[in-house]
Amino acid sequence: MAHVSSRLKEIAMEDIPNITSDIIEELNKLNINSVYQLAVQSPFELALEFEDTSLNVESASTLIANARKILIENKVLTNEFSTADEVLEKRNKISRYATGSENFDSFLNGGFETQAITELAGEFGSGKSQICHTLCVAANQLIENSRHDDAKEIDRHSKRGNIIFIDTENTFRANRVHQIAEQRGLDPLPILEKIFHCKVYNSEHLESVINDLDKSVEQYNAKIVMIDSIISLHRAEFSGQGTLAERQQRLGKMLNKLRRYADIYNIAVVITNQVVSYAYGSHPGFDYMKAAGGNIMAHGSTYRIFLRKSGKNRVATMDDSSYQPYQRVKFSISENGIQDANSYKIEESDSHW
Ligand code: GTP
Ligand code: MG
Repeated sequence: MAHVSSRLKEIAMEDIPNITSDIIEELNKLNINSVYQLAVQSPFELALEFEDTSLNVESASTLIANARKILIENKVLTNEFSTADEVLEKRNKISRYATGSENFDSFLNGGFETQAITELAGEFGSGKSQICHTLCVAANQLIENSRHDDAKEIDRHSKRGNIIFIDTENTFRANRVHQIAEQRGLDPLPILEKIFHCKVYNSEHLESVINDLDKSVEQYNAKIVMIDSIISLHRAEFSGQGTLAERQQRLGKMLNKLRRYADIYNIAVVITNQVVSYAYGSHPGFDYMKAAGGNIMAHGSTYRIFLRKSGKNRVATMDDSSYQPYQRVKFSISENGIQDANSYKIEESDSHW
């Protein structure tokens, strides 16, 4: 769907029915500079943000609907009602980014999917960040391979797509990417050059990076966006009971945006999440883990994968969803990144889920 961005550039804000130059100017002040950026707004928020309150919720809603209509007419968005063959055609555009661990990839039905948000939830050391680092290398390999298949000379930063790594925990290690690439017999430099690392300092910063992610995806021609982690800053900053509702609302907004970007730009979004431990009834020692972020988070992602330690290995469990059946896989972490575990046996007693 690389063609989407070029098509978007051809559609001007002026093409939106009933839009005035004053409104365009006001939208530009809010950093909304394209039809797509307008189409992903919520009417209520947009009306609130209009400085001179000249736009009420109803007019904002019409404006956004008109922007969406133009995108539908230009086949950037599908219509509210699509025939099943159109749905299938869209699904056929899905790409999958593999990790190179055969078992893990088949557990993912081939790899991390575009048009979807995949959530990796697990306790510390369960492998969330290591999966992201491995994907940085393996997805690049796929991109590089397809580059060689192409007869035309394609420069490194274009066409095939890059990776955006949004780092809220300061856990991104370029030398780890370098090591995984080397261990896999790949030239690390072209791989490192395709990763755009964004260090985020607080929850507001994360929200603004996600708000502007459509521009970054276009600018860096990204095919995968990783956020490690989606929730840690919000959990730390909105920790009191009184702030829970606000935290959830902010989290919901970020996930909504990510879902729309994944869909329209045909990108794979990978997010990591923390877990919270709950006491199981009144039995001490019988704690169980739950992904953080409550219902908003549970419904926000397309696929939810729970990770846990199992001796020296790790176990990934796919949460039962309408997209994937319940299943499990064992893997290990080594100099190669994540790889198939030597022993595939999963002890039932290992399970905390
Ligand atoms: P938090 O971010 O703390 O919640 O944990 P996480 O789930 O992101 O864990 P992470 O992916 O960082 O996994 C950490 C584990 O990966 C470590 O305990 C090590 O077992 C393993 N690991 C990390 N780096 C290396 C490495 O260079 N070589 C090997 N063999 N293992 C590594
Ligand atoms: Mg981590």
